Amino acid sequence: MINSVSEMQKICSGIKGTIGFVPTMGYLHEGHLSLVRAARKQCSNVVVSIFVNPYQFSPNEDLALYPRNIDRDVKLLTELEVDFIFFPTEQEMYPEGYKTWVTVDKITQILCGRSRPTHFRGVITIVTKLMNIVDPDYMFMGEKDFQQLVVLQQMAKDLNFRTKIIGCPIVREEDGLAMSSRNKYLSPSARKDALCLHNSLLLSKKLFKQEIISSNKIIAEMSNLIENNNGIVDYIEVVDSQTLKHLAELRTGCRILVAVIIENTRLIDNMEM
Ligand code: PAJ
Repeated sequence: MINSVSEMQKICSGIKGTIGFVPTMGYLHEGHLSLVRAARKQCSNVVVSIFVNPYQFSPNEDLALYPRNIDRDVKLLTELEVDFIFFPTEQEMYPEGYKTWVTVDKITQILCGRSRPTHFRGVITIVTKLMNIVDPDYMFMGEKDFQQLVVLQQMAKDLNFRTKIIGCPIVREEDGLAMSSRNKYLSPSARKDALCLHNSLLLSKKLFKQEIISSNKIIAEMSNLIENNNGIVDYIEVVDSQTLKHLAELRTGCRILVAVIIENTRLIDNMEM
């Protein structure tokens, strides 16, 4: 396990063969591990970072409560034969006097950016820093956080990173709930209600197959299902998968993204049509 930026940078610059990188905030589950497996399969060296990045949480969010278990994480990553675990301190990543932020226009202000206005600035900044430290050939990210994936692909393209960002499919619990560290916050009854995210997406797919293509119509049906299961809709949007532009009508390959508050926990999910 490496804690220092300069040491991690030195190691990575001396690595022979390809580097696959998986950035995480720890408290690993099968969703994270699927990314590590994909990296292991494709690359000769695998680096995983664990850093709960304070700047992607708003003041009213769950930073202090965010679940952590570094010993368990290290054990899981060792079993998957990860070569290096980068586990820096906050002081190491944001030393006193830190002043630089990386942002991407427009696509960070829609969807999750609307209710979390500083979130993507925090994500983009930390991932830019991590990419500069590790300089990976490939970076593996989950489609679970679809907007994050698109935003980081835009950043990497605009800032001329050589890294290829690979999007990996959403890993779900047996009953369909998308795996997330935040599922831990749900009470048993809320855990049942949380299935409404996946179920609403399945419903949208069913309606699309019946050739209903009006986004408004489909969103209304999804909202009903969610509200009937005690969910509060933050947003439901039909978007183009590349640009995240709102679509008035569904088409093959578009995505539906949802954010729903269950009890006090905000959950996200999405599905390709
Ligand atoms: P974190 O939530 O720990 O997620 C790390 C990576 O795991 C992300 O790429 C995320 O999309 C992926 N992931 C999470 N749940 C998944 C699931 N059920 N199926 C597939 N992939 C899943 O996302 C972050 O951390 C942070 O924003 C980070 C990029 C590390 C920057 O701090």
